[in-house]
Amino acid sequence: MSIELKSAKEIEAIRVSSQMAAETLLIVGDQLRAGMTTDDINTIVHDDTLRRGATPSPLNYKGFPKSVCTSVNHIVCHGIPSAQVLKNGDIINVDVTTFFNGFHGDTSATFFIGTPSPSARHVTEICRKALDLGIAEVKDGARFGDIGAAIQQYVEASGCSVVRDFVGHGIGRRFHEPPQVKHYGRRGTGERMRAGMVFTIEPMVNEGGWEIEVDERDRWTVTTADRSLSAQFEHTIVVTKSGCEILTERKRPLRLSESVPAVFAS
Ligand code: MF3
Ligand code: CO
Ligand code: CO
Repeated sequence: MSIELKSAKEIEAIRVSSQMAAETLLIVGDQLRAGMTTDDINTIVHDDTLRRGATPSPLNYKGFPKSVCTSVNHIVCHGIPSAQVLKNGDIINVDVTTFFNGFHGDTSATFFIGTPSPSARHVTEICRKALDLGIAEVKDGARFGDIGAAIQQYVEASGCSVVRDFVGHGIGRRFHEPPQVKHYGRRGTGERMRAGMVFTIEPMVNEGGWEIEVDERDRWTVTTADRSLSAQFEHTIVVTKSGCEILTERKRPLRLSESVPAVFAS
């Protein structure tokens, strides 16, 4: 199936949903602390989304049982909120997707609970920068392979790995639409990006190998095969003639993530 070009009206609607998701993620950052459970995060996201007159896209999506994905430490993605208590040193990705007025917006970030270990800090900062480098490749006429190549080159040069089994995705009236946006690959390959395409970039970066496993009991939770730490950041973007607009851009720094001073030189 081909990649839809969104109209200005559709882009505005996705911008609204995306800004709601971005604001909900900021509120999660404001409230996160050691001692909280991942179910508490689910409650924050669920209630904040409904308060906006919107719906949390994950709830009942292909049977997903909660309103947000919460992925702690070696969980790569699709972690299901539970009674698990967050403790000092944990890292957690919170992935918020908001459905409003017929359109979805999707964004996630990795947070530090207390003081991260040097390796937790490393994998998280590499992933944060990898998303930025991927976004920097986006422009009318560039190729999807350019995004993957930029991310893979940086992540692997930093001694980490890029998850292969999950990709960014087109987004709009549906949560997941074409194209599949790989976070690895070769420059100059893949379809050309065109102004009006709307998709996510959401690299998952592992401290060890890229191989993953899916929990065979819940069929959702994705872990690193080697149980090394994993981080993820995600934005929803729209391609423009000169580059792109980050539809899920935040209006202020994310507490316990962006506002934590860097402790190493990259
Ligand atoms: N938000 C995830 C993404 O970035 C998808 C989660 S699907 C769910 O694509 F069912 F687990 F919510
Ligand atoms: Co997401
Ligand atoms: Co996504």
